[in-house]
Amino acid sequence: MSSDGPTIRSLESEDRRFPPPDDFAASAVATAELYDRAAADPEAFWLEQAREILDWYTPPTVACDAANPPFFKWFTDGVLNASVNCLDRHLAARGDRVAFHWEGEPGERLDITYRDLHERVCRLANGLRARGIGKGDRVAIYLGMVPEAVVAILACARIGAPHTVVFGGFSPDSLRDRIIDCGCTALITADGSWRAGKVIPLKRNADAALESCPDVHTSVVVRRTESEIAWSEGRDVWYHELVADQPAECDPERMAAEDPLYILYTSGSTGKPKGILHTTGGYLTGVAATHRWCFDLKDDDVYWCAADVGWVTGHSYIVYGPLANGATSVLYEGAPSTPDKDRWWSIVARYGVTILYCAPTAIRSFMKWGTEYPERHDLSSIRLLGTVGEPINPEAWIWYRTHIGGERVPVVDTWWQTETGQIMISPLPGVTTLKPGSATRPLPGITADVVDARGESVPLGQGGYLVLRRPWPAMLRTLYGDDERYVDTYWSTYEGMYLAGDGARRDDDGDYWLLGRIDDVMNVSGHRLSTIEIESALVDHPLVAEAAVVGRADATTGQAIAAFVTLKGHATGDESIIAELRQHVATKIGAIARPKSIVLTDDLPKTRSGKIMRRLLRDISENRQLGDVTTLANEEVVQEIAGMAESARSSEGS
Ligand code: WTA
Repeated sequence: MSSDGPTIRSLESEDRRFPPPDDFAASAVATAELYDRAAADPEAFWLEQAREILDWYTPPTVACDAANPPFFKWFTDGVLNASVNCLDRHLAARGDRVAFHWEGEPGERLDITYRDLHERVCRLANGLRARGIGKGDRVAIYLGMVPEAVVAILACARIGAPHTVVFGGFSPDSLRDRIIDCGCTALITADGSWRAGKVIPLKRNADAALESCPDVHTSVVVRRTESEIAWSEGRDVWYHELVADQPAECDPERMAAEDPLYILYTSGSTGKPKGILHTTGGYLTGVAATHRWCFDLKDDDVYWCAADVGWVTGHSYIVYGPLANGATSVLYEGAPSTPDKDRWWSIVARYGVTILYCAPTAIRSFMKWGTEYPERHDLSSIRLLGTVGEPINPEAWIWYRTHIGGERVPVVDTWWQTETGQIMISPLPGVTTLKPGSATRPLPGITADVVDARGESVPLGQGGYLVLRRPWPAMLRTLYGDDERYVDTYWSTYEGMYLAGDGARRDDDGDYWLLGRIDDVMNVSGHRLSTIEIESALVDHPLVAEAAVVGRADATTGQAIAAFVTLKGHATGDESIIAELRQHVATKIGAIARPKSIVLTDDLPKTRSGKIMRRLLRDISENRQLGDVTTLANEEVVQEIAGMAESARSSEGS
């Protein structure tokens, strides 16, 4: 980031407003009073939440220990077990309640009650202990979206063995790097995993990874796809054999609040992935509280977070938050387009899903596919929608509310990170007036700010760098094995503030609008522009489903705006559409934002968690060798776009 003061110029204005429906507000779980209570004394507020929401062997008496910043600790004298909070304590009152309606991609259906889940977790936990795995040992989990993924996570938590879940779409090399960095001694995987009608060969990938991981003495294998697999005697053990003779009860490890719960790797813009370390008491408090507030969780809700357990969203809002709250969830194994593009909506209708939480990238795919798919099903059970993972374009927000939410329901746009562990900026659905594209306010107990390069708050209406000014319970504690990089990455830019790495603007009401990663900011003729606003202006055009914008070097203006656009229904476009789109942006936000070139493409390069990789588009636009592509989900599109960008450059408009 440059050292001169300025901030990110923000051009877009979105003036649609959606106050909470009266009946929703009247019975909302989280009310406005929470903000006041938290503001009066944030630490006391979180301590109260911790004691109220969780079951402790020893309840904590202290909130945040800030003796050695930025190595903050929370609830240090508390003792608890996360799996007990997610399972055991629900058994008496709601043991027969469904924890997960699981649906396999090929069509199997299974309802798993809290009692079932408890039993499965105990058996696996005992099985792991029988293999010599215990408190402090790191266990890698490399599975698809099968019930055993949740079981494995909780079994590790039960015996105090920090887990590191590696998304099932990652390559053998990525798996190997994480296992080594984390010093894992055991792995839980499967013979394969279903995705879009094909088998992902998890065991084959794992075997390749383990060739360079001599410390892994146990590889537990779930049978899922019945694929042919190799077998390493002694190391490999079938899951079903491991648990077969184990007792259905397992004495949980008593964990200090600050004992590690898990490590989850997230990619940095440079260097090797960062191992985000989360601990037990603060994390569980943060995710359980925010899951209640943001999703207005009630007893009869059927909640579906459609993320993968391999991402933090899966950890916090499929596993720990919902289970700590005793919720009933949906877990779906496969692709949204298998066997047809209405799969999600058939699931919503079948289980009567009331709360759906997904990523903007999924919503933009649905927009691209068209409304006929949701229209095939009765979606009237839905009463709340949520999004996470990227800034959501206002048109995608409106589409989601209209076509999935029946124009009735609140949409909560939740901003947070692997590092924050819990949702940080989000509406409270019964309180907040919604604005499409805005994550609105920091949650009760959270203190955010938008600052300039010197670290000073920018006035309302302006853009800058998003920071967090106070520690929060579910925050990362460090980068595993690399305290120095932890301090450097997050705490060294500004004294006493956590740097999120995102741009943001607060509007005149003080609501936050996320502007994307700082690295993606463009500088056109001396104006810093955020990519998301121009993208949203493009998506606002009725023909456009998805857009990505980057700055590429330009002799005259410093950077010029290069746009990549996908049309709805895979329509093809021509020069006249391109001209129209350029004009549309100029009309919506001003001539300065008019893209210099627009490439129409069938798809955009995305990470495996669905975020647009603007960095690669920048490389393409500047005709450079492509940077690291190991986290890219759809490699083929890159070559295709590169060819088109080449011809766009030669015929670009003024
Ligand atoms: C982006 C996902 C805008 C942001 C939970 C952040 C968002 C990064 C939003 C973290 C949102 C996430 N609006 N941007 N509602 N939610 N982001 O670690 O850039 O996979 O820094 O965690 O996603 O991604 P991560």
